[in-house]
Formats: sequence, structure tokens, C-alpha cells
Amino acid sequence: MSLLFQPLELQNHTLKNRMVVSPMCQYSAENGFATNWHLVHLGQFAIGKAGLIMQEATAVVPEGRITYGDLGLWNDAQIPALKNIVDFVHSQGSLIGIQLAHAGRKASTNKPWINRNQFLPEHENGWQTVGVSTLPYHQKDHPPVALTKQNIQEIIQAFKQSAQRAVTAGYNVVELHAAHGYLIHQFFSPLINNRSDEYGGSFENRIRFLLEIVEQVQQVLTNQSLWVRISATDWAEGGWTCFESVKLAHILKQKNVEVIDVSTGGAVAHQQIPEHENYQVPFANRIKTETNMITGAVGLITHAKQAEAILQKKEADFVSIARGFLQNPHLVYDFANELNVAIDWAPQYERGKESF
Ligand code: FNR
Repeated sequence: MSLLFQPLELQNHTLKNRMVVSPMCQYSAENGFATNWHLVHLGQFAIGKAGLIMQEATAVVPEGRITYGDLGLWNDAQIPALKNIVDFVHSQGSLIGIQLAHAGRKASTNKPWINRNQFLPEHENGWQTVGVSTLPYHQKDHPPVALTKQNIQEIIQAFKQSAQRAVTAGYNVVELHAAHGYLIHQFFSPLINNRSDEYGGSFENRIRFLLEIVEQVQQVLTNQSLWVRISATDWAEGGWTCFESVKLAHILKQKNVEVIDVSTGGAVAHQQIPEHENYQVPFANRIKTETNMITGAVGLITHAKQAEAILQKKEADFVSIARGFLQNPHLVYDFANELNVAIDWAPQYERGKESF
């Protein structure tokens, strides 16, 4: 019996299958506001019956955007366009999550299809970046300004307020983006965090920023499931490790974080990532095994039998897929077909099952 098409029960929500659309920035927002692009882009995965769609990294403050085209939720006026998307996704029977993010020193860059360069603060599409320290990501980048303790508290409050708006918009899941070298991960990594105050140095100090965000965000959640996406390793000597990720997951579990969405990398430019099929799955597996938390595996999961095997081997509880869904928004239909599982398609598409 296929596990991929077994529902996944969370405390307050049920995913109808275990295929999750991994968050994917579209760089197509206007001043942080969602556009028709987002409705169509995310809506197609709901028509395609994904169990849950995780909306792209959505900035909690304007300077937390990777590019000037990122989505934001720093303003109540940004809620209605997102609610429209949420309502459509729900009308198709899928769940939807929002990934709340701050890019820190990796902010203020161009849209990737133009180039990935960072703008100088004075450029019309750029701004002064902030970070855990003054170390830039690339040597050539303009250095970030190191956050003061007051700035840190302001950002924590921004996460809380954005989470509150996400609740108003009706999301089922709030995911904190603590991966890929963005601000929360910048605090974790000893390769970036050289602070001497209570936010730097020891493991306890480096995770403090995330834990304070978790505590504040939990206060505004009603029935939403709180997830954290982490990079389980920096893939670089002296960086954040899987051992620390497991320790962190144990603590997050105590704080009612329900799911760890396990990615890797992104902290430093000199990382060495051995990218191959399932390359991140062992990290999800280790966190799941050692903490008994619900985990998601992501990264080069491209085939139905491959995804099914990950679940059968209990290496993760669900799979997140990004590029596969870009190539085929109805990947769930195809995976079900390949695994000989009968699923309902959107009724408007049912005739697509008929032969010509
Ligand atoms: C991504 N990824 C990503 N990750 C994340 O946590 N937040 C994000 O907003 C984005 N944005 C994004 C945009 C695009 C266009 C791609 C292709 C990827 C990473 C993504 O969620 C996933 O972890 C990786 O792509 C690996 O999974 P796949 O593509 O091998 O299935």
C-alpha cells in the first residue's frame, strides 16, 4: 500500500497526501504585495492536488527581502491578496503554509533571471543589509550592518506580527525559514556569527534568536501548525552541523514546533555540496530517528518510487519537491498513476483520464 498517498495527520490539520510543494520564491511581488502570478502559480498546485503547498519565503520587513520582488507580510494591506490565494487553495482541498523569512546579509539582490548581484544600498532596488555580523556573503558584497540587541527584538516582533497576519489570512501552517544562510541561519552558523553578546558563541546563544521568535510566534497562532525549515549542515569546515541540528530539533519539539523541514547549505559561498539523488534525506532521517519528530525530506526527489521508498524506509514523513513541481504542476497525478493509486482529480480535469 502506498504511503505517499496516505494522509498525514498533524495536531489540527490533515494533509490528504504526503507530497508537499517546497517553497519557491517567484520574485514577482510588487512592494511585497502578491500578484496574479502568485495566485496562478500556487493555484495550479492546488488543482494538482498537492497535500500542502508551502508559499515562498515571505519577508517580515522590507529589508528582509532577498530581492525587491519578494513577497512580504509586514503590512495589513498585504493580507487580502494572500487570503485570496489561501481561499482558492482551500477550495481545492489542499493545505497551504507560509514561510516567514528575513534574508539578512543575503538581501538586496537582483532578480535571478537578470543576475544574482547584490545592489549597493543607494541603488533604487537595493538597501543597506543587516546581519548577525558585518561579514558579507561574498567578499565583493557591501558589508551588512550588525544588528543591535534592540534591532533583534524589533525583528522578533516583526515575525510575530507577520504570523498574526498569516493567521488572519487563513494559512494552515506557519514555517520559519531558518535555512539556506538567511538571517536565522546566520545566527546558527559559527562561520558567520562572531558576536560576543548572548546571541553569539555557544550553541545556546546561537539558537536564541530562533527560540525567541518561536516563543513570540506561538503566542499568536490559533490552530496553525508551526514548522521550521533548517539547513542541517553548512557543508563547510567549522560550520553548523547535523549534531547541532538534532540538538536544536529536540528543543523545538519541547516548544511545540510540529515539523522540521530538513534542507542543507546556503550559509557560506565556499560550501561543498555533494548534490545527488536523495542527498539531503539522511539528515531528515537522522532528525526523525533521534527526535521522533515529523520530518520532511527535500532535494532531488524526482520519481514516484523514489519518494515512496523514502517513506517506506521511514526516513521522513513526507517529501517536499520544488523543481519537479515547476516542470509538472500536476506531479501528484503522475506519481499516483505510477504507483497505481486512484486519486480524485479536479472534476474539471477528470476527462483527462479518458483515452483519445
Ligand atoms: C527554491 N528554494 C527555496 N527554499 C526555501 O526554503 N524558500 C524559498 O523561497 C525557496 N525559493 C526557491 C525558488 C526556486 C525557483 C527554487 C527552484 C528553489 C529551494 C527549494 O524549496 C528546494 O529546497 C530545493 O529546490 C531542492 O528541492 P528540489 O528542487 O530538488 O525538489
